[in-house]
Amino acid sequence: MDSDRKVALITGASQGIGAALAGAYRERGYRVVATARSMRPSDDPDILAVAGDIAERSTAERVISEAVTRFGRVDTLVNNAGIFIAKPFTDYTEADYLMVLGVNTTGFFHITQLAIAQMEKRGGGHVVQITTTLAEQANSKVPAVLAALTKGGLNAATRSLAIEYAGRGIRVNAVAPGIIRTPMHPPESHAALDGMHPLGHMGDISDIVQAVLYLEAAPFVTGEILHVDGGQSAGR
Ligand SMILES: NC(=O)c1ccc[n+]([C@@H]2O[C@H](COP(=O)([O-])OP(=O)(O)OC[C@H]3O[C@@H](n4cnc5c(N)ncnc54)[C@H](OP(=O)(O)O)[C@@H]3O)[C@@H](O)[C@H]2O)c1
Repeated sequence: MDSDRKVALITGASQGIGAALAGAYRERGYRVVATARSMRPSDDPDILAVAGDIAERSTAERVISEAVTRFGRVDTLVNNAGIFIAKPFTDYTEADYLMVLGVNTTGFFHITQLAIAQMEKRGGGHVVQITTTLAEQANSKVPAVLAALTKGGLNAATRSLAIEYAGRGIRVNAVAPGIIRTPMHPPESHAALDGMHPLGHMGDISDIVQAVLYLEAAPFVTGEILHVDGGQSAGR
C-alpha cells in the first residue's frame, strides 16, 4: 500500500458541494474517500466510494476502516453532508428534528471522532465543517431554527476542537456559506435567493470549494469560521 499520498474524506459527496470537493481534492493529487447514501463505486483507483447513512455510527466505522485498509491514512475530513428544512418553529415535527440532528450533528460526531483518532496517529490533519451563515445571521424570510441549532453547534464545536487539538497538529475550521446554487434550490427560486445577498447574487459551488482549499493550504489558520456568503454576515 502506497501511504505517501494524502487522503481526504468528504461526506455528502454524491452531489452538489460535496461532489465538487471530492473532484477538487482529487485534482490536487489527494486520494479521496467519498461517502453518501447514494454513493456509487468509482472507476478511479484513487477514489474509494462508501455508501451509507452518515447518521449511523456503523457507517462512520465502515468508512474509516475501509479508508485505512485501502489508503492507510486520513489527512483531511470535510463534514459536508447536511440537510436543510426551513419552517416556522412550531411547524417542525419530531421527525424533522430527529432527521436534521441525525445528519448534521450526530453525523458530524461519529465520523469526526474516528477520523481525528486516525489523524492523531500521524500527528496531523485538518477537519472542515460546512455550516451556514444563517446560524449567526437569522433571516426573517427563512425561518430555520434547526439549521441554526445544528450548524451553530458545528461552528462552536469547530472552535472547541481547534483548541483541543492545536497542540497535536490538527487544525479545525468551518466554511459558512450564504445561499449556493446547488440542486437544493429549484431554478424558479433563484431570483429571490439572489436578492438575499448584499453582492446581489447567490454563490456558486466553486466559491465554497475555493474556500475549503484555502483553509487546506493555510497552516496558520485554525478555529476559523470563514464566511462565504456574498456579504450576508456583514449586514444588510
Ligand atoms: N446549497 C446551499 O445553499 C447551502 C447553504 C449553506 C450551507 N450548505 C451546506 O452545504 C452542505 C452541502 O450542501 P449541498 O447544497 O451540496 O446539498 P445537496 O446537494 O443536498 O447534497 C447533500 C449531500 O449530503 C448527503 N446526505 C444527505 N443526507 C445524508 C445522510 N443521511 N447520510 C449521508 N449523506 C447524506 C447527500 O447524499 P445522499 O442523498 O446520497 O445521501 C448529498 O451528497 C450541507 O451541509 C449544507 O447544509 C448549503
